[in-house]
Amino acid sequence: MNDMSHPIALLGSEVAAGLIGHEELVERLLIALLASGHVLIEGPPGIAKTRAVKRLAACLPGSHARIQCTPDLLPSDLTGTQVFRPETGGFDFVPGPLFHALVLVDEINRAPPKVQSALLEAMAEGQVTSSGVTRPLPDPFMVVATQNPIEHEGTFPLPEAQMDRFLLHLSLGLPPLAEQERAILDLVAAERIAPPALASVPLTADTLHEAKAEAARVHLAPALKDFIVRLVMASRPGGAVAQWVEHPISPRGTLALAAAAQARAWLRARDYALPEDVIALAPDALAHRLIPSWTAIGEGRTGRSLVADIMRAIEPW
Ligand SMILES: Nc1ncnc2c1ncn2[C@@H]1O[C@H](COP(=O)(O)OP(=O)(O)OP(=O)(O)O)[C@@H](O)[C@H]1O
Ligand SMILES: [Mg+2]
Repeated sequence: MNDMSHPIALLGSEVAAGLIGHEELVERLLIALLASGHVLIEGPPGIAKTRAVKRLAACLPGSHARIQCTPDLLPSDLTGTQVFRPETGGFDFVPGPLFHALVLVDEINRAPPKVQSALLEAMAEGQVTSSGVTRPLPDPFMVVATQNPIEHEGTFPLPEAQMDRFLLHLSLGLPPLAEQERAILDLVAAERIAPPALASVPLTADTLHEAKAEAARVHLAPALKDFIVRLVMASRPGGAVAQWVEHPISPRGTLALAAAAQARAWLRARDYALPEDVIALAPDALAHRLIPSWTAIGEGRTGRSLVADIMRAIEPW
């Protein structure tokens, strides 16, 4: 069970300490960490997406790497390459940046499709294949990708089918309050004078492993499992929003929502999940898996608005 002195709680406070607002973002990063899932963060430029993930990386045990995506990136830039060693006359495999516990993939929609698919194979299967050899990635292995939705030139939208590989898709906006904008200014101005030191978080790989195991044991009552299933089924043929849906939510979506709800309950020091956990996470866990039909798009409906319709139509009990 978690409490405020648990290393995961300390990790959350340390990441949040360097961010103004974004409490939800930090909580969701912890949820994904506990549920062994990957996260896609979408939002306009300059709102601390990269900053948040860099702080998380700096506080986590295990190694991390950052990949800045560009259109000329090659799959081997991620997976690694065979390098010729004249001393031995043979080839050695030099692992690429994917071989780290936490991988920040910045501007994923700038990477060309072959790179995206190498990355998504890594995310779904925990392994990479290069030069015909398949190699396992570290465990845990977590990808946090960012993308900026306002840019279209020179970008490659992620294939819809592959969006499914992200446990959560977070959509961030600009700081809503002038006070927050001012606090960001004060914070960054102070950092320019004295670069801040991150407090060390006493989180070890073993503690993280143990916390994940506890989160997986959080009780999901049968009625709550049914609630999750009914939400997902609302997108399938015959369901409440089916008429607007081109591709309904997959079983991976059901599993994602359940695991995320358990992790949220664990973070709130409960050993059982509640409908509020499911309701809070349904948009981030489901909306990116539901592809609206052209008619729906023409009427201004989106994955998120359809999930909101589902939440209105389906009652927890
Ligand atoms: N909420 C915030 N809290 C703290 N700093 C912030 C916040 N929002 C913006 N900043 C500051 O704004 C700058 C931009 O942040 P960052 O580079 O992380 O943005 P980004 O969202 O990754 O942008 P891009 O999409 O262009 O990569 C940094 O100096 C960061 O410290
Ligand atoms: Mg960035």
